[in-house]
Amino acid sequence: MKILVTGGLGFIGSHTVVELQEQGYEVVIVDDLSNASISVLEGIEGITGIRPEFVQLDLRDKQGVFSFFQTNQDIDGVIHFAASKAVGESMQRPLMYYENNIVPLLNLLKELEKKEKAHFIFSSSCTVYGQAEVMPITEEAPIQVALSPYGNTKQIGEEIITDVTRVSSIDAILLRYFNPIGAHKSALIGELPIGVPQNLIPFITQTAIGVRKELSVFGEDYNTPDGTCIRDYIHVVDLAKAHVAALDRLVKGENIEKVETFNVGTGKGSSVMEIINAFEKVSGVKLHYKIVDRREGDITEAYACTRKANQVLGWKAELSLEVALDSAWKWEQKVRKH
Ligand code: WQD
Repeated sequence: MKILVTGGLGFIGSHTVVELQEQGYEVVIVDDLSNASISVLEGIEGITGIRPEFVQLDLRDKQGVFSFFQTNQDIDGVIHFAASKAVGESMQRPLMYYENNIVPLLNLLKELEKKEKAHFIFSSSCTVYGQAEVMPITEEAPIQVALSPYGNTKQIGEEIITDVTRVSSIDAILLRYFNPIGAHKSALIGELPIGVPQNLIPFITQTAIGVRKELSVFGEDYNTPDGTCIRDYIHVVDLAKAHVAALDRLVKGENIEKVETFNVGTGKGSSVMEIINAFEKVSGVKLHYKIVDRREGDITEAYACTRKANQVLGWKAELSLEVALDSAWKWEQKVRKH
């Protein structure tokens, strides 16, 4: 089985390529290198011993996508990661986000609907729930009006896929991620944020290693036990394995509907202060931080109900928060050695 992984040199994409190869899938990566480095190919090969085929391509280029599928007629499925993903940036650059996150999806689906059969795994996000009323969050929780163009592109993407699969031979699984963190245990691949990290864990590891002076904690007056926001932090390797489980389900024809949706999280919520304390324990490093104002757009609390993923998809997160934080720290130390 030959699988196209778009954005396969990115953080979640590269970890998924490793798990796909280890499960015997042949992988071709398409990436435009706008937010990833070609050196990630070395990291993947270093782990699996298999260098994935790589094609540099901007998926907004309709003709380029057409030519790719003409040359690669034997693609059985697509795992689509390629997209811009910074919530804050999307507020400043909505047009770039709608173009970059929707046009490639349309171009891919246009090629896949020509095929006899095609499997499509979509990188979605718990962002679609906004601030859910009930914890833990199930797949039946209502989709709320998006708070950012980024979140809106995930909602629109899900709707496009649902409408297209209804009238084509494509079947799909939508994976709604919670908060991916950590790195492969080899420290050969990991998160490579460009510029000042937006996300909590890379900012913590960069502070611990001295690249950042101190961590700003965005508010401690939320309605939570310690006043800081709660999220469901999932090891990126567990998240990667969920993609293989989803693909296996479609390849084996075990899916019950043309489009199925799964929340991919650990089912456990951790506050920012709990993350800081856990990181200090794991790394032995005292973290410098200060409490500042809330960040606009942040929700108070989000963690997944994992029953459907566990019972229907047959997948469960196995790696602990401490293992994830330790792997993030080891990766940061490795990156700074160069
Ligand atoms: C986590 C918590 C912050 C940085 C976003 C996207 C989501 C997904 C993951 C793409 C929050 C706090 C953070 C800092 C802090 N991305 N924080 N100081 O916002 O839950 O989710 O990234 O799919 O779609 O919305 O993740 O890591 O930015 O923040 O206090 O320097 O850490 O307030 O409570 P978030 P995050």
